[in-house]
Amino acid sequence: RDLYAVIGNPIAHSKSPFIHARFAEQTGEPVEYRHLLAPLDGFADHVRAFIAEGGRGLNVTVPFKLEAHALADTLSPRASAAGAVNTLRFDAEGIFGDNTDGVGLVRDIEANLGVSLKDARVLLLGAGGAARGVVLPMLDRAPRALAIVNRTAAKADALVEQFAAAAAAAGCELTGGGAQAVGAHPYDVIVNATAGSLDASLPECDDRAFGSGTLAYDMMYGAQPTVFMRHAQALGARASDGLGMLVEQAAESFFIWRGVRPDGAPVLAALRGMLS
Ligand code: ATR
Repeated sequence: RDLYAVIGNPIAHSKSPFIHARFAEQTGEPVEYRHLLAPLDGFADHVRAFIAEGGRGLNVTVPFKLEAHALADTLSPRASAAGAVNTLRFDAEGIFGDNTDGVGLVRDIEANLGVSLKDARVLLLGAGGAARGVVLPMLDRAPRALAIVNRTAAKADALVEQFAAAAAAAGCELTGGGAQAVGAHPYDVIVNATAGSLDASLPECDDRAFGSGTLAYDMMYGAQPTVFMRHAQALGARASDGLGMLVEQAAESFFIWRGVRPDGAPVLAALRGMLS
């Protein structure tokens, strides 16, 4: 069997070994998937030891996504744009780095939740690493407008500058700013990419951004709906957490390694059952 793992610190809580074991069963691919705890100052050494052991690929999680980006010999365009890598593949060509988080988000919104991003008006809350990682895959779906709004406006503006050419090519109106840049109208999709849910705080956002036709998507997940989800639902919007994004980013990684795309839906249902 071919060897893969998820590497991070901490790592014991990771659901990736469960997800990839289900994918291997489902597709019949001979995949063995482990978890790997690397010390904070030992990421590159651990990756090299894993390669020496015969490892074919890694998922990379907190706090090593930037180091994985630096370690890769070649990068996909989306990993390069994200400035972060969550998937490494090892072969005769060396170390290939990709980032499947954005495509995982897009696939969860479109395929699992049934909301098309094409021509949609999208609001992205946050401008840190998580937000940056999803901008290019979202632009690839050609939304009508994408507003990136962040507590610190300058960071949102920097993303607008970085992705201006890609937005123009997609025919998408890309804007940025601080909380006051949120439009006084319902968006089709609002994505919470702030770290706010971790400490149960809500990013500042005009209530009028949430309507009955809005999908409010929180990249975080837990056994209970997040504060952002409950806020959105109280304003009449539909809400989802980020568990499906977790499954779909894993499915895309599996595809990068094996050339076979697993079906995320049954694995998402199983994970959901385990959470509650
Ligand atoms: P990540 O990799 O998870 O995106 P990050 O790069 O540290 O982490 O970015 C955290 C994001 O959450 C930022 O957009 C941050 O806003 P600032 O740039 O203004 O710091 C946002 N954030 C964190 N806590 C927040 C809060 N309580 N309210 C609003 N935004 C918050």
